[in-house]
Amino acid sequence: MSIHHEHVLIIDFGSQVTQLIARRLRESGVYCEIHPYNRVDAAFLADFAPRAIILSGGPSSVHWQQSPRAPQEVFALGVPVLGICYGEQLICAQLGGKVAASDSREFGRAQIEIVRQSPLFAGLEREETVWMSHGDRVEALPEGFDVIARSANAPFAAIADESRRIYGVQFHPEVAHTPCGARILRNFTHEIAGCTGDWTMAAFKDEAIAKIRAQVGQGRVLCGLSGGVDSSVAAVLLHEAIGDRLSCVLVDTGLMRAGEADQVVAMFREHYNIPLVRVDAGDAFLGQLKGVAEPEAKRKIIGGLFIDVFEREARALGGADFLAQGTLYPDVIESVSFDGGPSVTIKSHHNVGGLPERMNMRLVEPLRELFKDEVRALGRELGLPQSFVGRHPFPGPGLAIRIPGEVTPERVAILQKADAIYLDEIRKAGLYDDIWQAFAVLLPVQSVGVMGDERTYEHVLALRAVTSTDGMTADYFPFDHDVLGRISTRIINEVRGINRVVYDVTSKPPGTIEWE
Ligand code: XMP
Repeated sequence: MSIHHEHVLIIDFGSQVTQLIARRLRESGVYCEIHPYNRVDAAFLADFAPRAIILSGGPSSVHWQQSPRAPQEVFALGVPVLGICYGEQLICAQLGGKVAASDSREFGRAQIEIVRQSPLFAGLEREETVWMSHGDRVEALPEGFDVIARSANAPFAAIADESRRIYGVQFHPEVAHTPCGARILRNFTHEIAGCTGDWTMAAFKDEAIAKIRAQVGQGRVLCGLSGGVDSSVAAVLLHEAIGDRLSCVLVDTGLMRAGEADQVVAMFREHYNIPLVRVDAGDAFLGQLKGVAEPEAKRKIIGGLFIDVFEREARALGGADFLAQGTLYPDVIESVSFDGGPSVTIKSHHNVGGLPERMNMRLVEPLRELFKDEVRALGRELGLPQSFVGRHPFPGPGLAIRIPGEVTPERVAILQKADAIYLDEIRKAGLYDDIWQAFAVLLPVQSVGVMGDERTYEHVLALRAVTSTDGMTADYFPFDHDVLGRISTRIINEVRGINRVVYDVTSKPPGTIEWE
């Protein structure tokens, strides 16, 4: 539980975007915690003593047998309550209104019209665009409630019992597609619940350190360090929390960018006094990946090998009780459901779904609830140099998931060369910091070309560069054609094995950022 005084409780009913509610609240300086509905009861509420409560959306229908409910005490505490989507249905169902089942669900942009003044809508226009998602229909409001906004298809788009400060919205204020949503959430926490918004990244840091100390006790922690932003921030945070009971291990998988392992070790040793072991395990990784082409199989093999190395190193250090990783929230939501709730697996990010169950160490993941840009802010708070904080993300499975098909040492070497030229040209063009992530993908496709007077028959290389704020959604980066032309010419002239370069213009969704 939080040591902070103004905390808001978000009760999760399984929506894919619950974490965005937390993010919006943090952006306006409010501390909050997400807890799954089935772990919240009267005793929990008394202990947590929330300043306000938000009920998230979720995939259930209040009509299903044993569909999730909020503890009835939520409505008796006297603190403001906001129900979002399924949360609104619950308010109606649990406070004596009527919700009718409906076979058709409705998703997408909608216009709401505000029909009654409410502090929830302070500062909004009379008409606003929102992201709507509704299945069941509210048919009769509980006593004391009024409609405060409606839309063409949702006569109960927003409801309120102003005297009890209980609110419900049918739409999702937490998503970017509801432009006025951040303001609505801020109105709820600041105007209605009276939060002052004094929570900061510095406060997050103190809380995270306190949590690590509580979890780890006198135990020893091994931290897998890749040199990326997340593991670097996790390592420095852990070091502040537990000092020299932390040891870091950098595994050179043979699947890193050219020269990357050397650079990371040099950078870390220059700036920090944290014990760091480097393990060269390229032969083991490439050996076990031989003949494997299926993306999830590759990820699982790599996850298993990482754990083998970590366990060996833990023994060499005389034992470690915990393994620390820089797992972020998007890794969690796309790999397994957050906190045990229901959501779909997109890919097994190696530091989450890719870990074998047999692991002997318990996990410490202090960044598990954060998005990448928040981790960067935390890194700055911890005083990490810009050279760490500003780095493009790099996935744990490394180049293996950028070589569709079988990963061979020859293919890795080709990709490393091409990738180095690509990033070099991006830096020279002054674009590195404008791009969220840029990398090359070596395709298992050969094409015919002509070089000098010779026929060539070599690999196709795909270039990918995206803009994003948190990795959950992304757009392709709109390079000038002359920059792309320069990159392509250099790669084809300088890298043997590639005779054609293409640029990937897929956004996420429907694509993902990595190809596998
Ligand atoms: P996707 O491909 O899922 O990637 O759109 C989103 C972000 O996550 C990175 N990524 C990973 N990071 N372990 C990691 O540490 C992984 O297994 C992994 N897979 C993808 C990806 O590079 C992008 O920044």
